[in-house]
Amino acid sequence: MMRALHAIAGTPAPAQVEVRPSTFDERQAIYNILMRSEIFGCADAECVDAMFLETWQSPPREDNYRWLSCWCDGRMIGFACYGPESLTDRTWDLFWICVVPEARGKGAGRALMAEVESQAHQAGGRLMVIYTSSTPKYAPARRLYESAGFICVAVVPDYYAEGDDLNIYWKRL
Ligand SMILES: CC(C)(COP(=O)(O)OP(=O)(O)OC[C@H]1O[C@@H](n2cnc3c(N)ncnc32)[C@H](O)[C@@H]1OP(=O)(O)O)[C@@H](O)C(=O)NCCC(=O)NCCS
Repeated sequence: MMRALHAIAGTPAPAQVEVRPSTFDERQAIYNILMRSEIFGCADAECVDAMFLETWQSPPREDNYRWLSCWCDGRMIGFACYGPESLTDRTWDLFWICVVPEARGKGAGRALMAEVESQAHQAGGRLMVIYTSSTPKYAPARRLYESAGFICVAVVPDYYAEGDDLNIYWKRL
């Protein structure tokens, strides 16, 4: 898999973010990014950690989770987890995407999304679907998806909790 370099916009000397496949030794860094996210908690970090372990512990399968890490100036600042949805015809899901608060708004999320889509497309992906929440704290995520061309095709009222709808985003790859 190629490494993808993306210039971060708006900095005096354009910094570059590098998106590359995650390695097993980045397990703790991914956990820490979630715990520092100001949006996810322990239960989320544990869930992601279990998915991460499953990826490396089970024999390689077609529908394994895929992981990408985003680096800037020698520091890991974000990650994404995605993969094909079992029992569908080439539908892929983006399961998690997160960038540390101090690195947000500079293109890291966009760089991760671009690489997720590119890798899924190269692997034969036909559609990509993303589940997210309707609440205000997920507004940056919804804007990221919309700016990447995803469309909110369905809303499931009160799915996560009363007043917290499921928004399903969709895009043809
Ligand atoms: C969602 C998230 C990954 C975006 O990462 P980011 O590095 O800040 O995103 P970018 O800087 O690449 O911005 C991408 C696009 O979204 C828009 N955007 C992102 N955050 C925004 C904000 N707070 N306000 C307005 N627009 C925003 C940008 O304008 C940009 O649009 P453009 O490409 O048209 O310019 C980041 O906010 C995050 O980690 N949030 C917490 C975790 C989360 O909600 N994850 C998703 C649910 S699993």
